[in-house]
Amino acid sequence: MSTDAVGRAYPRLEGREKVTGTARYAVEYPVDGVTYGWAVPSAVVRGRITRVDTAEALASPGVLAVVHHGNAPRLAPGVEADLWLLQEPAVHYRGELVAVVVATSLEAAREGARLVRIDYDAGPHSTVLTEDHPGLYTPDHVNPSYPTDTEEGDFDAGYAAAPVRVDATYRTPAYHNNPMEPHATTARWHDGRLLVHDSNQGASSVRAALAELFELPRESVRVVTEHVGGGFGSKGYAKAAVVLAALAARHVDRPVKLALTRQQLFGPVGYRTPTIQRVRLAADTDGRLTAICHDAMSQSSTILEFAEQTAVYTRSMYAAPHRRTTHRLVRLDVATPFWMRAPGECPGAYALESAIDELAVAVGIDPVELRIRNDTDVDPDQGRPFTSRNLAACLREGAERFGWADRDPAPRARRDGRWLIGSGVAGASYPARARPACATATARPDGGFHVRINATDIGTGARTALWQVAADALGVPPERVGISIGDSDLPNAPVAGGSMGTASWSWAVIRACEALRGKLRDGVPTDAEVSAEADTSEEVGGQPGLPRYAYGAQFAEVRVDATTGEVRLNRMLGVFAAGRVVNPTTARSQLIGGMTMGLSMALHEEGLLDERYGDWVNHDLATYHITGCADVESIEAYWLDEHDGELNPAGVKGIGEIGIVGSAAAVANAVFHATGVRIRDLPIRLDKLIGASKLA
Ligand code: MOS
Repeated sequence: MSTDAVGRAYPRLEGREKVTGTARYAVEYPVDGVTYGWAVPSAVVRGRITRVDTAEALASPGVLAVVHHGNAPRLAPGVEADLWLLQEPAVHYRGELVAVVVATSLEAAREGARLVRIDYDAGPHSTVLTEDHPGLYTPDHVNPSYPTDTEEGDFDAGYAAAPVRVDATYRTPAYHNNPMEPHATTARWHDGRLLVHDSNQGASSVRAALAELFELPRESVRVVTEHVGGGFGSKGYAKAAVVLAALAARHVDRPVKLALTRQQLFGPVGYRTPTIQRVRLAADTDGRLTAICHDAMSQSSTILEFAEQTAVYTRSMYAAPHRRTTHRLVRLDVATPFWMRAPGECPGAYALESAIDELAVAVGIDPVELRIRNDTDVDPDQGRPFTSRNLAACLREGAERFGWADRDPAPRARRDGRWLIGSGVAGASYPARARPACATATARPDGGFHVRINATDIGTGARTALWQVAADALGVPPERVGISIGDSDLPNAPVAGGSMGTASWSWAVIRACEALRGKLRDGVPTDAEVSAEADTSEEVGGQPGLPRYAYGAQFAEVRVDATTGEVRLNRMLGVFAAGRVVNPTTARSQLIGGMTMGLSMALHEEGLLDERYGDWVNHDLATYHITGCADVESIEAYWLDEHDGELNPAGVKGIGEIGIVGSAAAVANAVFHATGVRIRDLPIRLDKLIGASKLA
């Protein structure tokens, strides 16, 4: 593959449409005879609906129907319990969507929803994860299919014998995905076929879910996902909005637009599970790790088991002869947690990279040096060499760019007036995976080309990256290439998730373009369109199972008001090794976006659940705080020029998640360095700092 287009900073192909407002999102397509759905949340945590009184709602102007378990079209059971909506009177968590009001205007639907009266029989509930919860158990595996527990050597003996030890428990709260565009769908039925314009991260998997739920052949369902206003994992699979819209449209036999409200994003679409994580580290006096143990607890719902892989990060990050990781789970009367940017790795890295910092303090070794000393070329978990591992190079380059060498390791050593100033570092890693995909490449008689693949651009620039990859694979200037993505009628492709979108899709695009070039070389007639297809199932499936990871080093400097405990970020700097970077503009945007979410996790975000009524107290953007532009004074992302021939034809590792991994730990470690106070439950709020000690 030539590299004329790949590596160049093209602006997003659809950028102009987006900034001028002409790009259409899921509920922005004009549709004749459209109606509007408004979802109704349950008002109890656990119990049964005993009566739905729709009289007042139906009498309200414009209301066409109230769809609920008593009258909704039937869905096939056994697809995913979370999607089996409006089928039964049981209520599993507060906020579960139990009815949809359909009306001729959005306002009428909203008013109708207010007028629906639902009676419940409510039972007792349990909604808060605690380390002594009687329901804690050992799941069979953790996501996606990792062993639940691992053990090498003899952790207890190794830990007991070591001269330096750290034993710390870290807590992270629930985090709620809040993409700017909520989960939203326009659904229409025609001649027994279902067409949805939906906001998701993968139209192929949403189509498959809808086909199963409505017992239709896949060809009878089409999912169009042209533009998506963010997902972060929460749109990684079919979710409530698309199912409710399809149910409602079938019930009223008219097109339905349904968007979840901002409040409804705190529950029915999933959230990052809260965690309780105990990390024990032991080392010799040179800081070489001898024993590592990471015990993680998280939660799922009573509806289905979602076992996040919180401690998996620790299995492959640093070497030690004695190692143990465990996961315990409790099924609570809550919404099912779901993916959120680097699910597992992100909270897991917060705990491990904080504990490494505590070890650096305990053993008196610089935390950059300590990480480099415990680097390893061989995956401690699999016992095989990594295809490439540039953690140490990221740490060194980051230290250089950040100006780490001047740092006084003593906490509270720097002060500027009322501000205590400190800096922190953390490592980062994220698996570099790929999945099979299909693509088609077409040559036109006019000399133009077109590439088709059901990839999804959730705002990342994926469309542009694939266009660049296609141009190089075809060996033509990108101006001669067109690209179509975001439609389940296009060749099947996996979700934009797990940082494997570009790796998976570009693989199929390159193979389709190569096949097309082969046909053209063979001299097929070119007075008509010539197409070639690719399906990478065999090639991807036959790839050796080597440990493949992207790496990073995160640096942060904070200032903490010595009187009030207010924490401000001075700057954040990350250096990443993620294979080839296809587009520096969109890559930088991904990385600084991830880092900003890590800052948000360290200082701002926190889902607060009140056990008395079993729901989130702060379920809107006024009370659920998210880092804003004013909180990010300076943020820089860099990457190493990394070539790894064991990955995929484009040589990419994926950059969607590595930016968030470790970033919260870097900020938390900087707060410790500034203040000498170690806060182990996020977010680090001023009340925790001033409560823990007298800063001044
Ligand atoms: Mo990402 S949380 O894998 O969409």
